[in-house]
Amino acid sequence: MNRLNNKVAIVTGASSGIGRVTAKLFAAEGAKVVVGARRQAELDSLVAEIEAEGGEAIAVAGDVRSEDYHKALVAAAVTNYGKLDIAFNNAGIIGEAGPSTGVSEAGFSEAVAVNLTASFLAAKHQIGAMTEHGGGSVIFTSTFVGYSFAFPGVAAYAASKSGLIGLTQALAAEFGPQGVRVNAILPGAVDTDMYRGVNDTTEKQAAITAMHALKRVATPDEVARSVLYLASDDASFVTGTASLVDGGISISRS
Ligand SMILES: NC(=O)c1ccc[n+]([C@@H]2O[C@H](COP(=O)([O-])OP(=O)(O)OC[C@H]3O[C@@H](n4cnc5c(N)ncnc54)[C@H](OP(=O)(O)O)[C@@H]3O)[C@@H](O)[C@H]2O)c1
Repeated sequence: MNRLNNKVAIVTGASSGIGRVTAKLFAAEGAKVVVGARRQAELDSLVAEIEAEGGEAIAVAGDVRSEDYHKALVAAAVTNYGKLDIAFNNAGIIGEAGPSTGVSEAGFSEAVAVNLTASFLAAKHQIGAMTEHGGGSVIFTSTFVGYSFAFPGVAAYAASKSGLIGLTQALAAEFGPQGVRVNAILPGAVDTDMYRGVNDTTEKQAAITAMHALKRVATPDEVARSVLYLASDDASFVTGTASLVDGGISISRS
């Protein structure tokens, strides 16, 4: 408890899955949290849950592809809570999947827009607010896919998500001198709506489960606790990393 006391955080992709659980964990650890996603009703119910548990949060709904949305999220943090310390840029989509020779330009571009460009736009506005108060922690949600493991048929997802690792390194080098740490978290398979959408049969779920050394997929809470580490002062010397939280899928051949 209290690992994020007096901290102010933004969490995107907070309407479901990893983002929702992480926003609740941040609040339980003492952070004031600005939660973002497009689905207003889900954000409102999240804020109600956080408040019922004694935490503080506000919802700002919008689309991460909009630069103005990132300005609004930062403004909400600064106006309501006085500053910004932590940003978990987690919103993401699988994008158009299937044989790459059939993927449309629009489908490929959408994945890049949501997964990569939006993350850049988020950090662009978050970092200025962080450096005004001595620094902060930016965390992007990447994935093992396109980094340490390749699946056929998800080129847009793999390319957009692995781009986040270059973005992480570039921003970590550029803003480290001002006290901003920037890291990417790379989960293995996590039991969320996205996971169940892709792995929509028991056979597919069994196959992906077996690829992990731990022979199971993660709960969102297991990823959230690693994000908490990167967000907190426990990770005060950790920056520029591609941090695998993947149940060993990257190293398992059994
Ligand atoms: N589940 C896995 O196995 C796994 C593994 C590795 C990495 N990841 C990554 O983890 C992150 C979270 O995914 P999840 O598994 O928790 O799935 P999820 O439940 O589907 O969450 C995705 C989140 O992204 C938000 N989002 C999507 N497009 C958006 C847009 N244009 N503007 C604003 N918000 C948008 C969604 O909110 P709205 O629909 O309300 O906008 C939702 O809150 C993603 O970046 C994903 O790529 C997941």
